[in-house]
Amino acid sequence: MSTTAPTLLRIDTSIRGTDSVSRRLTDLAVRTWLRTHPTGRVVVHDLAENPPPHFAGPSELAEEYATELRDADDLVLGMPLYNWGPPSMLKAWFDHVIASPLARDPQTMAPMLTLGTAVLVVARGGAYGDDTPRAGWDHATDWAQKSFTAVGLDLTVVPVEMTLAPGAPYLAEFEHLYHRDLARAQEELEQVWTRAALAGV
Ligand SMILES: Cc1cc2nc3c(=O)[nH]c(=O)nc-3n(C[C@H](O)[C@H](O)[C@H](O)COP(=O)(O)O)c2cc1C
Repeated sequence: MSTTAPTLLRIDTSIRGTDSVSRRLTDLAVRTWLRTHPTGRVVVHDLAENPPPHFAGPSELAEEYATELRDADDLVLGMPLYNWGPPSMLKAWFDHVIASPLARDPQTMAPMLTLGTAVLVVARGGAYGDDTPRAGWDHATDWAQKSFTAVGLDLTVVPVEMTLAPGAPYLAEFEHLYHRDLARAQEELEQVWTRAALAGV
């Protein structure tokens, strides 16, 4: 039996500090994780505070980031939608990760990472459902799900839409959608780690 304390890797990417919806939810995810892993260790990686450089070829950073992921038991990642894509610091971070042989076998391209549970919190200012004018414009969530699969990680997506509504009079009629999503996300994050534990993963 391993004597190493279980580790949660928390990655934040929002530039909005304490106003951030995704950070509020990654905070909650950490609290609920610690409830089920009282002896656990939380490693925090803030990509807004410490943005990685653009990828320019294999480097020590690639190994550092991939090692952090390899050594984690669980992951929670906060991702705002920025101009219909992921924050550029998250894209740069991922470009480093996937270049490492710890993340993907360079010969076979086989995914090399295995984690217990990997949660992606997505905060979107607007709405992107099938019946909205911007349906299909959220390229960040799809990108994240597919890209993380390529390194072996199956993301559980916890979305919140209409985060801009509470501060924007022109979106007032949609504010209830934000509160509905926020409540759903909080509920999901209360149980996401327990459900994984019960399923034995
Ligand atoms: C640079 C920037 C670009 C944004 N682009 C979009 C966008 O394309 N679509 C959208 O719905 N919201 C957009 N927003 C709003 C954010 O997605 C929204 O504020 C979200 O809550 C940010 O996550 P956070 O609350 O964790 O900071 C943008 C915000 C910023 C700062």
